[in-house]
Amino acid sequence: MSVSNTNTSGKNSGSSGSALLGIIIAGALVIAGGFLIATFWSAVLPKQASAESRQVDDLFRFMLIIGGAIFLLVQGLLAYSVLRFRAKPGDTTDGPAIHGNTTLEFVWTAIPAVVVAVLAVYSYNVWTSIRAPKPNEQVSGVVGARFAWTFNYNLTRDNLPVGIEFDALAPEIQEDLNDGGITINYPQLATYVDQPVKLDMVSNDVIHSFWVPAMRIKQDLLPGRVTEIRFTPIEVGTYRVVCAELCGSGHGNMAGQLDPDGNVLGAWVVVYPDEATFRREFFDPEAMNLLFPPEDPALAGRAVLASGKYPCATCHTLTDLGWTGNLAPSLDGIGTRTSRLDSSGLPDMATYLHESIRHPNDYTVPGYATGLMPAFNPEPDQPNYMPESDLENIIAYLLTQTGE
Ligand code: CUA
Repeated sequence: MSVSNTNTSGKNSGSSGSALLGIIIAGALVIAGGFLIATFWSAVLPKQASAESRQVDDLFRFMLIIGGAIFLLVQGLLAYSVLRFRAKPGDTTDGPAIHGNTTLEFVWTAIPAVVVAVLAVYSYNVWTSIRAPKPNEQVSGVVGARFAWTFNYNLTRDNLPVGIEFDALAPEIQEDLNDGGITINYPQLATYVDQPVKLDMVSNDVIHSFWVPAMRIKQDLLPGRVTEIRFTPIEVGTYRVVCAELCGSGHGNMAGQLDPDGNVLGAWVVVYPDEATFRREFFDPEAMNLLFPPEDPALAGRAVLASGKYPCATCHTLTDLGWTGNLAPSLDGIGTRTSRLDSSGLPDMATYLHESIRHPNDYTVPGYATGLMPAFNPEPDQPNYMPESDLENIIAYLLTQTGE
């Protein structure tokens, strides 16, 4: 470093002046280096897709400038000391004994104290600003389960698809709409540009962590508690959701996937350009499925499974629905796989499917892990609630999956 030039020229009359110049030049270099490190690192971060990502990245860059400068200062002094104060050949004497230096100690305590105080205030401001409620939020639910995410949206009288008259709907649907609304379950989190989103998150089993790198948000889901996180998307796009807490053998499957054709599978945040597109491409068609459920139980069951309401796709393969999970038996041809009846002692496949969804651990197929599949329970106050009507429809659909 340039410091070594000035200091080694030590003993003439201009020594203190040139030493000061050296320190100023070294200081400038160290700070410029901090900026350089921060700039390089910022370039490798994912795209900024939310308003919060800008705040978080600005804070991160600020910390990198300070951290980078300190790194260069420490390493520079180390390198300088190694060169400048190394032992001459044959010199075995000790260095001079040094006893404290009050000024130096004051300086190296005061500077970090100021840096930490500034960072604490700045970080706290960013944190509170991100957590603060925003006007007109889209409130969606996030359910984490081994091993899938489900997002839900509330359909009420006030957000019916365009052209749908409340009075023309079936009486039981009208009742549900008035009574807290109908829940749309979907494997992706859909929203649109500039729409503030608030997520209420619950876990069905163990701790998961909801992470969307492009949005710079990450929040744990804790069993028995509702945690929340907010973000406002600013860019149209499809952004991968990742589970950032090791939650079991299918943990990796909780990250958004792509099928061989490049279509999204599993958890992604889908940001539409505006509310009209969001409603036309996502919300209204999903709402119509629930407002006018298919009469045929097999079609209704297919619709339920395709909606991602239950996290079967992450573990099972089912070609008809594009599922490619490999932690559990394939469901292709399950309707005629009567070999399962021999060991279970059950009379027919409908009963077998019913029992193995309600009590999966009693019917583990040899070669697969017991305890991985949750029991889907018939009562709303139990975990993994699956109403009998859904189960009947799912069974009707699965029985149509015949052949190899
Ligand atoms: Cu859920 Cu890892």
